[in-house]
Amino acid sequence: MGQAPWWKRAIVYQIYPLSFKDSNQDGLGDIPGIISRLDYLKRLGVDVIWLSPVYRSPMDDNGYDIADYYSIDPIFGTLDDMKRLLNEVHDRGMKLIMDLVVNHTSDEHIWFKESKKDVHSPYRDYYLWRQEPTQVDSIFGGSAWTLDPTTNMYYFHLFSKRQPDLNWHHKPLREAIYTMVNWWLDLGIDGFRMDVIDLIGKNIDQMKFADGPYLHTYLKELYERCFEGRDIMTVGEMPGLSIERAKEITHGEHPLLDMVFQFAHVGLDEVPGQGKWVLKKLDLLEFKHTFETLQKMMHDGGWNSLFLSNHDQPRVVSRYGSELYRKASAKMLATILYGMQGTPYIYQGEEIGMTGIQMPIKDYRDLETKQIYDILKQKGWDERDIMRSIYAKSRDNSRTPFQWNRKDYAGFSTHEPWLSVNPNYLSLNAEDDQNDPEGVFPYYQKLIQLRKTHPIFDEGDFMLIFKDHPLVFAYQRKYQEKTITVIGSFSDQPITLDLSSLNLKQIIQTNDETVTLSPLMTLSPYYTAIFS
Ligand code: GLC
Repeated sequence: MGQAPWWKRAIVYQIYPLSFKDSNQDGLGDIPGIISRLDYLKRLGVDVIWLSPVYRSPMDDNGYDIADYYSIDPIFGTLDDMKRLLNEVHDRGMKLIMDLVVNHTSDEHIWFKESKKDVHSPYRDYYLWRQEPTQVDSIFGGSAWTLDPTTNMYYFHLFSKRQPDLNWHHKPLREAIYTMVNWWLDLGIDGFRMDVIDLIGKNIDQMKFADGPYLHTYLKELYERCFEGRDIMTVGEMPGLSIERAKEITHGEHPLLDMVFQFAHVGLDEVPGQGKWVLKKLDLLEFKHTFETLQKMMHDGGWNSLFLSNHDQPRVVSRYGSELYRKASAKMLATILYGMQGTPYIYQGEEIGMTGIQMPIKDYRDLETKQIYDILKQKGWDERDIMRSIYAKSRDNSRTPFQWNRKDYAGFSTHEPWLSVNPNYLSLNAEDDQNDPEGVFPYYQKLIQLRKTHPIFDEGDFMLIFKDHPLVFAYQRKYQEKTITVIGSFSDQPITLDLSSLNLKQIIQTNDETVTLSPLMTLSPYYTAIFS
């Protein structure tokens, strides 16, 4: 077996630029702000930074609506700032990947402005126009078709009406995309996170969207035209892809993508088929078995990305852990997740155990949240039920400004930020957390170092233990002659486990030193440990 590619050993850290660090005190995070915090990331043990979009955008969807792929939005800085960021990242021995949003553009992209002018425009077929709409809902709610009065035809958008979908069947569009992708790669970036890339092969007339009939063809072409032969990493966001297909895409001699974000575990706290706002208590058994399938399936080929959170998902402590046992549960979730096989992803703030937020509806900024509030109101939902769902699931939960210290606005800015700071910043911030021996950050540092020094984390197989325990997530990994055991309690009560058959030698990392290794162990609330 040859040397594993660097991205299999890398720790990836996602930055949501609007909320990370503001350097020019306008309340909006920016690229110079990111540069000022690179040493922090290096100290954590980060190898790769994934930057959510910083391209020019009207910010209808906070940058996931791109108006110009070749320029940086002035709120974030300039192209020179971007080049400086890249250099500073490389100087520290880290890498940088950008977000590639090519399922759709902003309605302010010149292609769309030209496209809508008249049916004979050379850009007309860059987008999907039809005389009559079909019955398709957009992912943010409401119809996926909007009538444009200029030519009196409908254009298709799977997200907001300000995010028209690109027509990948049109070769000139694909060529324009490849030119752009190569331009960024030639500039020296180290790869891409590819936004909802499972949608580019859709056939809207056959009502096939995710994992559509042309997905393989276009991914292959993209690979051959842009990625092949370059030492980069690619990770595709593929919410609509089955685990089997995720494996196919990342497997074989010439995988089309290095890894994907597979979503099998993400919707388990939702009533199936009802969308993300209809809540259901997480069934840990289901959660464990989904990870088991992912781990087993990807073990002999294919590659996993390990994530629980990102800018679209709620904060993990509030979602799967407990705000009451904040530090313990933040550490437990990290241990369970990063003990598995795959490339670990940390979403900004996860490493200090940031939590979700509850605000009056007027303070939310996310377009999906605002849209769903109106839709659920129209459907006759009770205000309290709507807000309960929004508190649990709004994307703004994870987008509140990063909590750096105890200063005003949590040290994110001296100006009022674009989105409220979580009021808990006085007791939850990076500065205090790093100086706290019980802090989440020092725990992450240690966990990352542990992963980096023991190949078993990268190579070992996976076997669930205590399979049917409803409150404990536990597994063993084996590699060559070695075994490690990872245990995490999802309970706020003590749990006694009989570990006598496991042959555990010692605890190599834990969130509670007061619990000693014994055949009959009583785990404290949200206890976690890795045993050799
Ligand atoms: C992805 C992004 C999300 C965005 C959507 C449309 O799911 O992660 O933030 O709203 O695509 O681009």
